[in-house]
Parts: sequence; structure tokens; C-alpha cells
Amino acid sequence: MKILFIGSRLYDDIDWYVKSKGVESVLTESNEEAINLDLPDQVFIVPRGMDGPKQVALMQNVDAIVPLIGIDPPLIDVAHMKEEVEKEYDIPVIAAGVRAVELTSNKINTKEFYNDIGVATPDYQILNSPKDLTLDFPVVLKQGEGQGGKDIKIAKSIEDVEEYFGEFDHALCEKFVEGSEISIEVLGFNGEYVALPPIYKGETTLEGTHPLNKVKTGPCMVEGLDNNLVQHTAYKVAKNLASDGIFEMDFMFSKDENQLYAIEVNTRPNGTRYLTTATCGINSLCELVNMAIGEFSLANISDKLQYYYSTEIPIGNYEGSSPKEPVKSFEENDFVVHGPEGYQRVTARANSKEELENLVEKLT
Ligand SMILES: Nc1ncnc2c1ncn2[C@@H]1O[C@H](COP(=O)(O)OP(=O)(O)O)[C@@H](O)[C@H]1O
Ligand SMILES: [Mg+2]
Repeated sequence: MKILFIGSRLYDDIDWYVKSKGVESVLTESNEEAINLDLPDQVFIVPRGMDGPKQVALMQNVDAIVPLIGIDPPLIDVAHMKEEVEKEYDIPVIAAGVRAVELTSNKINTKEFYNDIGVATPDYQILNSPKDLTLDFPVVLKQGEGQGGKDIKIAKSIEDVEEYFGEFDHALCEKFVEGSEISIEVLGFNGEYVALPPIYKGETTLEGTHPLNKVKTGPCMVEGLDNNLVQHTAYKVAKNLASDGIFEMDFMFSKDENQLYAIEVNTRPNGTRYLTTATCGINSLCELVNMAIGEFSLANISDKLQYYYSTEIPIGNYEGSSPKEPVKSFEENDFVVHGPEGYQRVTARANSKEELENLVEKLT
């Protein structure tokens, strides 16, 4: 079995798994200074875009292609490549297709999609001028594209909206939801979908603090919210997207309204994955490999499911004891450290809340 991986930045997360499965690894990367280039069996430096990876896949006669791209902009090129390569060359590409990417990579399209399939999402309007605003303050102003809180502003007054229009000529304007932020990963392949346990990412704030900078926990335990509802709703969204790979979804739960709202979908490896793995033992990146080698199934996932209490804490730079090999896996560890220097996070897990508190104390 030979797999082409596209992009090296996340590859150290799964190199150990690829090797344990006896898979031959070929990797393409556009930046010759990038990390992890020493890990795969073969590396090809190619120009940006999907033409290089496609040529390498054909030349190397790979059995499947697994894109490992953690950012939004290339996803649409990957999706077009997937459709071409699967149709013309019969090589599976474990990624979302064009329709799924078009619906999810733009937050305005996503809102319309939620409405079409009957999934609740916060009230919204598209503003072409501050004068169009009819929603009550506070409101959240966004652009169609962006991740990590980019171009997002919480407006408490018309002056705030006017200021936002100093920079942008339109906005997706959404009702501010006061409540809990929840993420969930859904894995999809060949028409089968499995929603993993939801993760709690903190309460929304009027400052708009992004969950990247908050302490998160798994499994999600929010008073008044049934995790089955989150999993069922996420499953419904993924099924309607009808594509392959990882679907990470953001939800908010308003306790006052007793309402779960869908916010956005990312069809790529994402920041929730360490907590998901810590909580339930399923590693979404390893499952991409399983999809490629024919070992992904609902039964296989059920067999591997575990139940832990877990948490993820932003720490800047970790200075504690080193995790065991493989360092980015919970196989031998009860914690992993990840993220770039200065923005590192520790994800830890234990059998009980008390044990988790003790472990966190030791680590931080
Ligand atoms: N309707 C909303 N109500 C309250 N907070 C929001 C709302 N929409 C976004 N936010 C805050 O902004 C963050 C980023 O918004 P999101 O739409 O997920 O964009 P991004 O792609 O940048 O993550 C959210 O995680 C949340 O903290
Ligand atoms: Mg988000």
C-alpha cells in the first residue's frame, strides 16, 4: 500500500501510524524549508497548487491520496483535484468534494445550507451598508471567508458597525449568541458517517475571545444540553454534505433559549482533534489513513471507542517532562504537547475528573 500525503506540516502527527500499518509514504510539499520532511519514505518539492501532487501520484503509482491541509484556501483546489483524479484515474482522494467545500468554505453559503436542511443557525442578514441593519445589538460581523477569528468583530453599537465598514464593504451580520461553544468532529467515507463526542470550548464573550485562547474540555458537559442532540445534528449536517474526510463543526448552545445553533463547518484537519482523541481514542488523522487503506468502518470505530475526561490548555511554551514516543499520540501518553512555539497547548486525559486535575497541576 502506497499513499501520497499532501503537505508536511501535520505529518508528524501520523507518521508513527503510517509506519505501524506498513504503508509506504510519499509526500509532496511546496516549501522546501517546511518541517517533517525527514519523516516520509519519499518527499517531492512541488509548486503550490494541486498539479504537482497529481503528477507525483500518477508517476509513483500510489493507491490513495490523503491531503493533510489544515488551512482553508487550498481546499477548493484539492476538491477539484479529487473529482478529476477519482474519475480519470480511479485513485481515491480522502477529502471533501467541490460541493461540500463550496457550501462550507464560505460562511454565507453555510448559513443558507443550514436553512435548506432545517438546522437552526443564529438569525442573520447580509449588510451592504450599516444602514441595512435590523437585528438588535450586540451582533457579530464576519466575512464569508476566514478562520481563527480573522475579520470578526462584535458590534455593540452602530458606531462599531460603521467602523467595521471602514475596512469592509459588506458583512455577514449574525445575532450574538450568549452561551457555550461546542465543537464536534464527524468522519465520513463512502456514505457512512460517524459523529465523535462533542468538545466544550468555553462561553462566548462580548470581546469575541476565540476558543483558540481558552481552556477546553471533553466530553462536553453543558447543563441542559444533551450530547446526543449535538451528535445527531452534526451527523445530519455531514450526511447532507455527502462527502469524505473530516468535518469539524462549531455549535453554540443558548441556555436561555434552550437552543442549539450551528455556526460553521471545516472540511479539514482542525484544532479539535487532539481533544477528540484524548476523550474517545479516535484520531481523525489516523482515520484518514484508515479510509485510504480500507480499514475505516463504523464497527472499527466502535471497537476503538474509549471514555476519558480530557482538557486542553494554552500554555505558550511547555517546559515539563517529555511525552513518550510517539509524542503526538495518546498510545503511550496521558498528555501531548502541540502547536507552534509561543502558542503551545497541552492536551491531557485521565480516568476521572480528580485524576485529570492532578495531572494538569503536574504539567502546568
Ligand atoms: N453568533 C455569535 N455569537 C457569539 N459569538 C460568536 C458568534 N459567531 C462567532 N462568535 C465568536 O467568534 C468566534 C469565531 O467565529 P467563527 O464563525 O467560528 O469563525 P472562525 O472561522 O474564525 O473560527 C467563535 O468561536 C465565537 O467565539
Ligand atoms: Mg470557528
